[in-house]
Amino acid sequence: MSLTDRDRAVVWHPFTQAATAQPPLPVVGAQGSWLYLADGTRVFDAISSWWTCLIGHSHPRLVAAIAEQAARLDHVLFAGCTHPGAVELAEQLVARAPAGLKRVFYSDDGSTAVEVALKMAVQYHAQNGQPQRTRFLALEAGYHGDTIGAMSVGDPADFAGPFAPLLWPVARVPVPVVDGDPLLADADMAPALTELDRLLATQGDTLAAIIVEPIVQGAGGMRFHPPAFLRAVAERVRARGGLVIADEVMTGFGRTGALFASTHARLEPDILCLAKGLTGGMLPLAATLATETIFAAFLGPDARRALLHGHSFTANPIACAVALASLRVAEDEHLLEKTAELHRFYRDFLPPLSGLPGVRAVRWLGGIGVVELHGGGYHDALRSQQVRDHCLQHGVLIRPLGPVLYTMPPLGSDLADVARAWDIIATGLAGAA
Ligand SMILES: Cc1ncc(COP(=O)(O)O)c(C=O)c1O
Repeated sequence: MSLTDRDRAVVWHPFTQAATAQPPLPVVGAQGSWLYLADGTRVFDAISSWWTCLIGHSHPRLVAAIAEQAARLDHVLFAGCTHPGAVELAEQLVARAPAGLKRVFYSDDGSTAVEVALKMAVQYHAQNGQPQRTRFLALEAGYHGDTIGAMSVGDPADFAGPFAPLLWPVARVPVPVVDGDPLLADADMAPALTELDRLLATQGDTLAAIIVEPIVQGAGGMRFHPPAFLRAVAERVRARGGLVIADEVMTGFGRTGALFASTHARLEPDILCLAKGLTGGMLPLAATLATETIFAAFLGPDARRALLHGHSFTANPIACAVALASLRVAEDEHLLEKTAELHRFYRDFLPPLSGLPGVRAVRWLGGIGVVELHGGGYHDALRSQQVRDHCLQHGVLIRPLGPVLYTMPPLGSDLADVARAWDIIATGLAGAA
């Protein structure tokens, strides 16, 4: 029996309609930007395996870090114990993060990083004399993960489905969406800010925090907004006593051309969520960073003032070791410069695609290049699936978000491979027109 047949008999895949899905790709190896299939062919991982693979698959220094750490200290509980990797990683994250973030709380993935952030915000206010601050604001079309709290702050339209009754009510702030390069784009922010002002007025002093995906909203369709909007939002929320949570689970570690997307807007969030690329994409690990002011609100003689949260694998030493190695390799291999090259490639390559029939807009930032097709209905999703199939036949893996086609390759990718991937996407677009 083939791997895919055996898979079909026993495995349940994420976000996959098993009744209609094509058979899963049998991936038996990965190196650099390439996935190797059971039949010996290779496929370019143009979406970094769900945005996780930061530099490239199985980088030798990351592999060595895992092996070395596994032999020395595989795992230890993180309540009442510590270990060198967790401490050094926290030091390195604090040194690189936007100013003011001084404390690192570890968990396992993007969703848990967000759950921790939400709980931190609520408990912080409760212990700071404002227990009524339990409500959140979020951006329209935001996505923050699949656990109940993360789904509550995410935009339910596409992802919540039958769980909607379980989610707490969250008001959504409209976003002035821009195309092209969001750092250069202009947008009329007035309608969105007027609505934000209205929401802030109705929420009064019940607002705990706003959660944002800075500059790039990923799963909602690689939607971009200008830095000035983010700054204006943060100022208004803070003026009303709310915290600002930056969810950089996708944008962190250079994806947008800066180490953190918040810095494009000179945003200094109160809480920052990191995961995915934190370990270079090799192991699950997440971090929620907070200011010293927030941390201080959890101190006191009463044990119940502590942050009441923790996971079995909090700060797993192997994951911390590979995260440290990834930070070093990213610097040694000048990943931000490579991301700037990707940005320039998109800037030159994408605009002519907007002339193709059916293309609504193109946009790019750092390592992310996007082509959005017209509409958003079934037909356009079908069309983007046709382009996806065409790409796969030619050795390129993409995963459109409805009518939105994009690449976000490992940042260590060879530019020629990215250019070849886009040639294939472009012929697919022309063919599917
Ligand atoms: C911005 C953002 N936040 C949170 C998450 C959830 O991360 P995870 O899938 O690791 O739980 C994602 C996943 O795509 C994300 O893009």
